[in-house]
Amino acid sequence: MSDDTPGSAGGFGDGHPVVSATDFLRVTEQAALASARWVGQGDRHSADGAAVDAMRREFGAMPIRGEVVIGEGEKDEAPELYVGEVLGTGGMPCEIAVDPLEGTDLVARGDAGAIAVCVIGAPGGVMAAPDMYMQKLCVGAQAKGRVDITAPISDTLDTVARCYDRSIRDLSVIVLDRPRHEAMIEEIRGLGARIKLIPDGDITASMSAAVRGTGDHVYMGIGGSTEGVITAAALECLGGEIQARMWPKDDAQRERLKEYGLGDTAQVLTGRDLAPNPMYVLATGVTDGYLLKGVRYFSDGARTHSIVMDLRSRTVRFVDAIHMFSRTPLREIRL
Ligand code: FBP
Repeated sequence: MSDDTPGSAGGFGDGHPVVSATDFLRVTEQAALASARWVGQGDRHSADGAAVDAMRREFGAMPIRGEVVIGEGEKDEAPELYVGEVLGTGGMPCEIAVDPLEGTDLVARGDAGAIAVCVIGAPGGVMAAPDMYMQKLCVGAQAKGRVDITAPISDTLDTVARCYDRSIRDLSVIVLDRPRHEAMIEEIRGLGARIKLIPDGDITASMSAAVRGTGDHVYMGIGGSTEGVITAAALECLGGEIQARMWPKDDAQRERLKEYGLGDTAQVLTGRDLAPNPMYVLATGVTDGYLLKGVRYFSDGARTHSIVMDLRSRTVRFVDAIHMFSRTPLREIRL
């Protein structure tokens, strides 16, 4: 792999054995298994806490020196997986971006679309974004390089429709169901495109827009900035594109952005800004979603469904795993 290849990570591993993408799979699988116990329990904090604990435990056992760049918050806000926390037993240096449970309310309500997700990047490979809102436009490989977040929505949908060789009315646009999106939703409806309004979960929505066969073509709107960084890494692996702009809600956030060198809120951030050198992105379904099935439990085990995106080996794997909870063999294995 040449050094100008996205994700080629000159010096990755730094002389330490390189830990493979699939070695990280336990991280999201265990987070999903732990948080899925809380499905429908009406307790978003316990659902999130279970995922955080499991993710931290699994990272802690790995032969890495992984610095959390996107995590649960700053050190004074979060006891675990805080920004700057170093995880692992030592070894391969890397940066880590996590959302141990994307869709905490989805799990609390037993709704579809929650995932456990993490990004492993080379040192300097993942942008440290302050946690606030971000405007995002995400498309798949067909429309990559053709859209512009600063253009009118009508132009964007017209372009995407052309890229897919169809009319706007045959597009599916995913939007977070929020009052701040009302005008945008009306505009999209007025243009004739179909809309999927989602209650939460714009990482999985963006991935869905970038995977052919899901029936989705565009994700647009304002969501979390840390989710935007994780999305950027995932879309790099999936051949899609994100364009984004920071969306501060007050002067304090505007000041914060300056500290991060992001004071120009008109600046369009691309995947290369948000995740310049991601290596692996892993996600496991917690509840059923567009791309991944949720955790299914049975008497002596459970089944998980994950996606492992690996820019080093240039593979995208869907992994259907059966986990046995005791030493005795499962009574049966189902296809
Ligand atoms: P959580 O998992 O932290 O609850 O985030 C869910 C989510 O829907 C994200 O996918 C999205 O980026 C963000 O929240 C949107 O924020 P808000 O709920 O404030 O509109």
